[in-house]
Amino acid sequence: MAQLFRPGANSLLRVALFALLLAPLGLVALMIGLQRTGYVTGQGRFAEQTVPFSHKHHAGELGIDCRFCHVGVETGAKATVPTTQVCMTCHSQMWTNAQMLAPVRQSYASGQPLRWSRVNRVPGYVYFDHHVHVRNGVPCAACHGDMRQMPLTRQATPMTMQWCLDCHRDPEKRLVPADRVTLSKPYEQSIPEDEARRIHAHVVGLQHARRLTDCSTCHR
Ligand code: HEC
Ligand code: HEC
Ligand code: HEC
Ligand code: HEC
Ligand code: HEC
Repeated sequence: MAQLFRPGANSLLRVALFALLLAPLGLVALMIGLQRTGYVTGQGRFAEQTVPFSHKHHAGELGIDCRFCHVGVETGAKATVPTTQVCMTCHSQMWTNAQMLAPVRQSYASGQPLRWSRVNRVPGYVYFDHHVHVRNGVPCAACHGDMRQMPLTRQATPMTMQWCLDCHRDPEKRLVPADRVTLSKPYEQSIPEDEARRIHAHVVGLQHARRLTDCSTCHR
């Protein structure tokens, strides 16, 4: 042994051993870091679509209400995507030759629904319900960003458990009067005093029942 290693080798070995011990810690730190990035949560993600539908054009520039196309959003758990018939209320008369709309016309003629790739999704073991949020003043923009500015639909928020809980612990400042839930910038105007009082009383009631942060609220 003595001939094989120079005197410095001992400390070199110690450094190597130390690095080896630290490696798992580094890996854990890397994984925690990764979990916070869009790479894992999907935040910022787009999906390929057969028809390049633009919210910027339809909801933004043309000003079509979200609920005209997403009919389930105030009545049920799922917001639902519009049927081909909804598109054809306009596109049977306008842009009738556009190549981009060929799949829409084919779907209408054949009766086969259009396939839209999902962008936002929570795992199957999570219970999520749209109408409890929308009907009680949580605006679309709090969870989906300003859709009226999006030419292509993008996942605007992390949609992790931590993200849900951040709002569920203290929802008051995230709530707006019912007529603002579909606005682009629902938080910009101030809230009339009587509305603010009503919202406050509602949140106190929710917190008193303590159910918004119970595991069984979202895992049932
Ligand atoms: C003219 C019909 C129409 C209008 C109006 C409309 N949408 Fe959509 N929306 C669609 C279609 C079609 C899709 C599926 C394609 C896509 O993801 O872009 C969609 C998808 C979405 C998605 C993503 C669904 C997923 O896959 O996760 C969200 C969120 C959404 N819309 C929110 C809104 C909001 C908020 C408004 C109002 C500001 C709105 N939409 C107005 C037609 C519409
Ligand atoms: C209320 C009427 C209306 C409805 C409903 C509607 N559109 Fe449109 N759409 C328009 C108009 C108007 C234009 C042309 C806009 C322009 O370029 O001036 C357009 C343009 C388009 C274009 C061309 C690209 C673009 O955005 O300029 C696509 C693709 C399209 N629509 C897809 C759809 C799909 C898919 C649906 C159903 C989910 C739908 N539209 C529902 C009115 C409508
Ligand atoms: C509290 C957060 C929150 C609010 C507010 C919200 N959404 Fe969503 N949205 C989600 C989540 C989470 C998903 C994924 C749901 C899933 O995987 O089942 C989703 C999915 C969707 C989808 C995909 C199809 C579906 O039925 O799940 C559409 C479309 C949609 N939202 C539209 C809207 C519109 C329009 C509004 C406002 C009127 C709105 N959302 C308000 C969180 C929200
Ligand atoms: C921006 C705020 C906000 C975000 C984000 C949010 N929520 Fe909520 N959520 C609320 C509020 C406020 C209520 C209470 C609505 C009411 O009853 O007045 C609620 C209620 C609920 C309820 C119904 C509770 C019941 O028993 O009636 C479920 C389930 C729920 N949220 C699941 C989720 C999940 C899952 C997520 C994340 C994917 C999420 N929420 C994200 C604000 C939010
Ligand atoms: C407001 C809604 C909400 C509440 C309340 C909630 N969760 Fe979750 N939970 C989620 C969502 C959304 C996910 C999936 C997204 C993710 O993994 O972050 C999730 C994922 C999980 C997972 C999967 C493991 C993981 O991190 O991938 C476990 C385990 C879990 N939750 C346990 C709990 C327990 C225990 C409680 C009560 C202390 C609880 N949850 C309360 C929304 C909630």
